[in-house]
Amino acid sequence: MKEQDLNIKYTEFESINELDEENKHVLSEARQACLHSYSPYSGFSVGAAVKCNDGRIVTGNNQENAAYPSGLCAERVAIFSAMSQNISTRIEKLAIAVKTKNGSVIQPVSPCGACRQVIAEYEHRQGSKIEIIFSSESGKTIIVDSIKALLPFTFNADFLP
Ligand code: THU
Repeated sequence: MKEQDLNIKYTEFESINELDEENKHVLSEARQACLHSYSPYSGFSVGAAVKCNDGRIVTGNNQENAAYPSGLCAERVAIFSAMSQNISTRIEKLAIAVKTKNGSVIQPVSPCGACRQVIAEYEHRQGSKIEIIFSSESGKTIIVDSIKALLPFTFNADFLP
C-alpha cells in the first residue's frame, strides 16, 4: 500500500484588472454572454467564451428548460458551438462568468462535472491544454492551465478497447 498525494496549481486574482489583456478580453466576452442566458428557473445566468486557435471567440450561455435536465450549461453550449463550426478547431482558452440579480456570487464559479468531462474530451482530442478562467461577480478569478487540475484521473478514449 502506498499513500499518494495530488496537488493542483492555480492562479488567483482579486480583480479582473489583474488579468492580462487577452484574458481580460475573453472574460469580458463571457460576461457579455451572461446577458443572453435563458435561466428563468435558477435565476443564475452563466456565460462562457471559447478562444480558438484560429482567433475566433465563440460564446454561449446556460439554456434552461421547464423539463430541468433538458437544459444545458453555458460551457457546453459555447464549446459545442465552436467545435460544430470547424472540426479542426483547437480550443486555447475557456472563460466562465456568472450574473445574478443581487450580484451575490463572490467565489469563482467552476465548471460542473459534466462540463469538465466535455472539456477533457476536447483537450484529449487536440493534444494540447485548454486554459480555464473562471470568475465571480465581484471579479475574483481563478485560472488553471488544464482540465487536469479540475478533473484528475480523467476517463478518456484511451480506456476504450
Ligand atoms: N450552470 C452552468 O451553466 N455552468 C456551470 O458551470 C454551473 C451551472 C448553469 C446550469 C443551470 O442553468 C444554472 O447554472 C444553475 O445550476
